[in-house]
Amino acid sequence: MKHAIIEKPAEFFKKEPALKHYDSAYANFSWEDYRKEIDWLEEGKLNAGHEATRHCSDKTAIMWEGADGRKKTCSFNKVNAESNKFANALRGLGVQKGERVFLFLPRVPQVHYSFLGTLKAGAIAGTLFSAFGLDALKDRIGHSEASVVVTDTNLKKRIDEVCGNMQVCKDMPALKHVILVDAEDDAGDALSYNKLVGKQSPEFKPEPMGKDDYAFMLYTSGTTGKPKGIVHAHGGIIQQKLSARWVLDLKQDDVYWCTADHGWVTGISYGILGPLANRVPLVLYDGRFDAEKWYSIIQEYKVSVWYTAPTAIRMLMKAGDELPAKHDLSSLRLLYSVGEPLNPEAVEWGLKVFNKPFHDTWWQTETGSILIANYPCLPIKPGSMGKPFPGIKAAIIDDEGRELPANQEGNLAIKPPWPSILRTVWANKEKYEGYFLKEWFTTGDRALCDDDGYYWFIGRADDVIKTSGERVGPFEVESALVEHEAIAEAGVIGKPDMMRGEIIKAFITLKDGYKHTPELDEDIQKFVKKNLAGHAYPREIEVVDSLPKTSSGKIMRRVLKAKELGLAIGDTSTLEN
Ligand code: WTA
Repeated sequence: MKHAIIEKPAEFFKKEPALKHYDSAYANFSWEDYRKEIDWLEEGKLNAGHEATRHCSDKTAIMWEGADGRKKTCSFNKVNAESNKFANALRGLGVQKGERVFLFLPRVPQVHYSFLGTLKAGAIAGTLFSAFGLDALKDRIGHSEASVVVTDTNLKKRIDEVCGNMQVCKDMPALKHVILVDAEDDAGDALSYNKLVGKQSPEFKPEPMGKDDYAFMLYTSGTTGKPKGIVHAHGGIIQQKLSARWVLDLKQDDVYWCTADHGWVTGISYGILGPLANRVPLVLYDGRFDAEKWYSIIQEYKVSVWYTAPTAIRMLMKAGDELPAKHDLSSLRLLYSVGEPLNPEAVEWGLKVFNKPFHDTWWQTETGSILIANYPCLPIKPGSMGKPFPGIKAAIIDDEGRELPANQEGNLAIKPPWPSILRTVWANKEKYEGYFLKEWFTTGDRALCDDDGYYWFIGRADDVIKTSGERVGPFEVESALVEHEAIAEAGVIGKPDMMRGEIIKAFITLKDGYKHTPELDEDIQKFVKKNLAGHAYPREIEVVDSLPKTSSGKIMRRVLKAKELGLAIGDTSTLEN
């Protein structure tokens, strides 16, 4: 192996890890043993929002810093009281159990308050990335039939643009209330968060929920069709809590920084639920990526556990080793990564610069929590995703669901159930059922497992794109592209990129009368940013005379990708042109 195994002597991490012996924990594990972690509200009933807020104290829970440098801290008491107030406000608005409440917000503490308050009230919280554009909002708020959206004055403009002046918004027909976190007074059809929530009682009796009752949902992309609403249930909290303790090794005197946005699953499971359920203070930074700023945050807040993504790590690497040397980063205890393959060089760079390796973790929106990981107590094989979490049976299977031997590439699969597994795909039973093959949950990832039980990521089995760790469906981008007046047809692929993992590349054909110019490219990119999302536009656009299609007219992305990479095109028996 080119990259040496990283052994970690006991004194390496300053503190003894909570999970000390992986093999025995894995061998003897039973979820039943962790029932006592939960405050059962009634026989068999719990509430994930309550689990994350029931440890009331004056201890700091959230250290927030805005993009403009404003700062605020709030205690566990405050998170509890504010989420209770929000739950009361929902009750006052007549929001029923199971109704959808969507959060379209920058990274502000109201995300935590309203997310947890929604769960406490028994409604379903949906989160949206603030870079989402008009179509992305329609496909999520409209499709889920959300009745409440919590947003701010600036982001609301996009909702207004979708809805126009309609009394009842055609594309978001169930939407009844828009709540603005930054408005002091009700403004037209929108309610002021401060006025509405501020007057509520800080006491609230959390709704007792079954472990399979829905708690939150996130739309994510597949190869085909519109984004899927992945729905998670209250029972997942036990796994979010335990994995935050055993993988991230969060302890009550840590300061934890998860750089993910709440619009992605990491920002929920490990930006809200996992750390708060373990009573761990967290940093919430609303600014964009900036190497200098990021190091300053670690220094200023004395971050001890840091969970980030490979693209960010590679950008830090690019910014050079002098910058971290100028900061006091001695508070760092453990470093973690998720979302896309973490190259061995990045793991080793951590060791060089922070004196700590990055621990890679693997999971998906659908799995609800980390399922494969590198643990503090285990040596790291740089480039490997690590080993299954206790209670999780992972395997490499063939297309018929047969388990494959070690060292053989195949489909990464997990044996269901586990507490945080998705419970459904919103209004799409077929997509939900499509995840399962015989006794397996299929992940869509290709991987192999070595003789020591370490898993190695190989690639996606489908066309899903991972750009800067963000999951983008080619179909969504293609749909946005063909709405542009100049574009006749579009095929979209993920093109390998040293920094971002992949970039989105679009192959397009133009309508008669349009010529390919740099201005047109720019206009197309702007158009996709506005209509779909700030992060989902094609960084590269190639105009072609025609696109490879099957006889039924489907664009063959596989052929586009092979051509782009200079690879053999493979089986083209169904190719039309
Ligand atoms: C990819 C993110 C390689 C993978 C929490 C997976 C990874 C998809 C890793 C899920 C990793 C995630 N190494 N690839 N450590 N972690 N992925 O739903 O393809 O945004 O299926 O969830 O990201 O992305 P999602």
